[in-house]
This record gives sequence, C-alpha cells and structure tokens, in this order.
Amino acid sequence: MMEIAERILVIMDDIVTQQVDAIVNAANNSLLGGGGVDGAIHQAAGPELLEECRKLGGCPTGEARITRGYNLPAKWVIHTVGPLWRGGMHGEDKMLCRAYRSSLKLAQQYKVRSIAFPGISIGAYGFPVERAAGIAVWSVWDFLTEVNTINEVILVCYNQTAFEMYSGALHNITDNIK
Ligand code: APR
Repeated sequence: MMEIAERILVIMDDIVTQQVDAIVNAANNSLLGGGGVDGAIHQAAGPELLEECRKLGGCPTGEARITRGYNLPAKWVIHTVGPLWRGGMHGEDKMLCRAYRSSLKLAQQYKVRSIAFPGISIGAYGFPVERAAGIAVWSVWDFLTEVNTINEVILVCYNQTAFEMYSGALHNITDNIK
C-alpha cells in the first residue's frame, strides 16, 4: 500500500496538458464556462464540452458534476464550484473542503485512478491562497485515507506563489503525521 504522501503531488504547470484520467475544473454555478482555468479547459476540450455542460443544468457550490474530456488528454472533466471569498465568515472553508471531497467522490465512482486539481477558488473567487492550500491538501489527504483506488492526485499550480503555498501545505501535513 502506497503512503498517502506518495499519492499527492504538487507541480507548476498548465492543467489542460495533464495526462491523467480526470482533471477538475474550477467552474461557476452555471457550468457554462468562464475565464481563468474554466476558460482554458473549455478552449482545449473544444465546443462539445459546453454542449454537454448545457445539459447538466448547473451545479450548486460545493458539489461536482462530470463530463467527458473530448479533445483533452484526460478522459473526464469533473466540474466543481468553489466558494466566492466573502471574508471567511460565510462557510467558505467548509465549502472549499466540500468541493474537493465531492470531486474526489465522483472520481472514485468513475474508477478514476489519477486526477489533477487546479487551485479552486484562489483566482477570480479571491480565496486567500495559503488558507486555500491548507484546506486543499487536508481535504485530499483525508479522502485518500478512506479510498485506496485513487493513487495519484496532482495539485497543479499556475504560478510560483501558489506552488510554494500548496507544496508548503503538503510538507506541513507530512511532517505533522510522522
Ligand atoms: N492551469 C492551471 N491553473 C490555472 C490555469 C491553467 N490553465 N489557468 C488559470 N489557473 C489558475 C489561476 O491562476 C488560479 O490560481 O487556477 C486558479 C483558479 O482561478 P480561477 O480560474 O479564477 O478559478 P476560481 O477562483 O475558482 O474562480 C472561479 O472563475 O473563470 C471563472 O467560471 C469560473 O466564475 C468561475 C470563477
């Protein structure tokens, strides 16, 4: 059995090029596309992705929905909606944790073995990066202790600051668990 720490990877890259079973999209409640990573994923997957998304009828914050990946290397796109940061007293932490867990649950149902996440909510939604990184790493770690069919979770950071925060959060948890 692989150690949890060996099943989580933090990298700096573009999520659309990841060779994994599923990539996660940081979408909005409409699931009809947007800017940031959402725009990049739709652009790379092609128009069929939007067509399939239209049929889903949106997604509440903290939940997730799955579609095919079309022109992406990934077979699946798991669309989740993270919270919009409103100062931290509106259940943002819990909702962010829920977005990671819902995505991983769907991945498990679809027999996904490798999955890549962007930094959900840390762009347009304004979630403080260090706080989001801690929640992301903890949520993933906790889920992997319960489920052993997912053996690779890649946290894909798009800039140096994000990379430092997510890898720092992963080191913290690894050190604390030893
Ligand atoms: N690969 C990996 N990460 C990326 C990419 C990419 N190609 N493009 C952007 N990112 C990063 C951003 O730099 C940021 O760190 O993804 C992180 C999340 O930022 P956003 O895409 O703005 O997502 P979020 O903060 O969750 O806001 C969601 O933005 O585009 C809209 O439709 C989306 O309304 C929703 C909102």
